[in-house]
Amino acid sequence: MRLEGKVAIVTGAAGGIGYATAKRFLEEGAVVAICDIDAERVRVAEKELSALGKVRGFAVDILNDEQIENMVKAVVAEFGTIDILINNAGITMDAQMYKMNEDQFDQVLDINVKGTYRVSKAVLPIMMEKHYGKIVNASSISGLTGNFGQTNYAASKAAIMGLTRSMGRELGKWGINVNAVAPGFIRTRMTDQIPPDVMKQKIDKIPVKRPGQPEEIANVYLFLASDEASFVNGAIIVADGGMH
Ligand SMILES: NC(=O)c1ccc[n+]([C@@H]2O[C@H](COP(=O)([O-])OP(=O)(O)OC[C@H]3O[C@@H](n4cnc5c(N)ncnc54)[C@H](O)[C@@H]3O)[C@@H](O)[C@H]2O)c1
Repeated sequence: MRLEGKVAIVTGAAGGIGYATAKRFLEEGAVVAICDIDAERVRVAEKELSALGKVRGFAVDILNDEQIENMVKAVVAEFGTIDILINNAGITMDAQMYKMNEDQFDQVLDINVKGTYRVSKAVLPIMMEKHYGKIVNASSISGLTGNFGQTNYAASKAAIMGLTRSMGRELGKWGINVNAVAPGFIRTRMTDQIPPDVMKQKIDKIPVKRPGQPEEIANVYLFLASDEASFVNGAIIVADGGMH
């Protein structure tokens, strides 16, 4: 029960890594608000996870301040506070740069970077007031190494690293730890569209010779969201099977 009594918001939690994280946090005793833009999948996820503990689903676009504010208010009204924010929601819109239009570039930067900024900003007053909080952001090894077809995504995930380090510097004195996870190749809807031959090439480059599972990233989020990581701040934890 590493998160006993803690109240967590997990964004992008209708599937993939976010869903696995919500599940793991519930197993560890947290109350969990799952937030995702996909209302139908949020409803299904809430129903599935409700057997494990207190969970509420919110259909929220992390680019919509009003929806974010309503979710934050509802979580505080129902559960009393917010201790943990997992800024997990993110998208890819891959294309080689010479074919990528500005809209593809902007959308990925907006959701991955500004979405993280917006939800973080909405929970900060609550965490600052009580001098306690854990914020964990989703970066990627693409942000460290770059990746073919991902100029937009890699730029967004590198931005998350800078955002995380800066937030850690600003918020440490308020008792708030801010860290990021940089996953490698993880089996989710995001990577399911990759053609089998490209998938094989990618797996060949991973020293452990397999893709990661969402639960293996959920475990890293869990560590960073727990008090076991009390002296970890502004860190980027790579979880990529040794790939980068
Ligand atoms: N899968 C990987 O290999 C991998 C690798 C590195 C980093 N990541 C990062 O991990 C995070 C989770 O990815 P995943 O693989 O589970 O992908 P996923 O596509 O399964 O999950 C992402 C979720 O975010 C939601 N979302 C998208 N836009 C949103 C918005 N505007 N508001 C609210 N929710 C929104 C989607 O509906 C989806 O449920 C992402 O930030 C991703 O960039 C994934």
